Amino acid sequence: MSGLTSGILARLHSADGYLSGERLCREFGITRSAVWKHIRQLRLSGCRIEAVTGSGYRLLALSGAPVSAEVALFLNTGFAGRILHYRMETESTNLEAKLLAAAGAPEGSVVTADFQSAGRGRLGRSWVSPAGENLYFSVILRPPVASYRVPQITLLSAAAIHRALVEALSGIDARIKWPNDIVVGGKKLCGVLCEMQADPDTAHFVVVGIGINVNQGEFPPDLLDRATSLRCESGFSLCRPELLAGVLNRFEELYLQWLREDDLGFILPYLERYSLLHGRDVIVDQLTRQIAGTVKGIAPGGELLLGMADGTVRPISSGEASLSSAYTM
Ligand code: BTN
Repeated sequence: MSGLTSGILARLHSADGYLSGERLCREFGITRSAVWKHIRQLRLSGCRIEAVTGSGYRLLALSGAPVSAEVALFLNTGFAGRILHYRMETESTNLEAKLLAAAGAPEGSVVTADFQSAGRGRLGRSWVSPAGENLYFSVILRPPVASYRVPQITLLSAAAIHRALVEALSGIDARIKWPNDIVVGGKKLCGVLCEMQADPDTAHFVVVGIGINVNQGEFPPDLLDRATSLRCESGFSLCRPELLAGVLNRFEELYLQWLREDDLGFILPYLERYSLLHGRDVIVDQLTRQIAGTVKGIAPGGELLLGMADGTVRPISSGEASLSSAYTM
């Protein structure tokens, strides 16, 4: 979509009622037939625009796809999402973002897709990515920090997503499950997959991949007990571009603060307040071994602090945590 088409969409979106064709011509310095072409372009992209003789144009509804022009309506970032590559279909937005990052894409560039044919989750799992319902996107970062700090970005992202979700749906009881999930009622709503290209000392780039189940109404039988969506939880369909912008707005704010700090200390109270695991007995699966303990908190470096049977507290830096009660059920 051209800059002018996006500009006209933004103008229609901010207008209170109808905007005459004549006014759009004047404001954008274009002819009436050019205005009409842009309106047609917007309609083709799925926006509903009413045209009334004598009154002008009125935006009735956005397409709801996470395209650049629609996300931009709700963005208030300096760099996150200001360059946004939208794909109707891709294998994985993380895969595309890594290619773009390797080719020099600037910090904050985002790849988003309506459908992923091979969406990837943590630990080699797949991420079910049906078309037209959810958000799948990846943010390219170039943090000037030592690579040992990069895993902290996963928790930072979880906090940003949580804040955006709660702002979008105030009643929702979403919990952050260390290190990368957002869950509601024990079911997964969102996952984060961070990947980086780094030397031992420096991170060249980081790709933060985020999948949020937004408007999905039904889940395949194998996910029924484990996955949910905002729509299933609230009964409402959400505007995906607005939610995506909300996450990016919150993410940029926390990311900039994190760059100024040494660690996650500034966000720990938030992470602990909304933690699913705080004070609970858990089992952390590290593939080669399982560690059982009681969650005491999160360390400033992002590690899960696990109280052991012998009274010591052990920092756990990676693994998949599950509530012990879920194991015995
Ligand atoms: C997990 O919880 O296992 C992480 C899931 C991450 C899924 C997102 S969807 C957008 C991005 N592209 C991918 O292929 N994966 C991430």
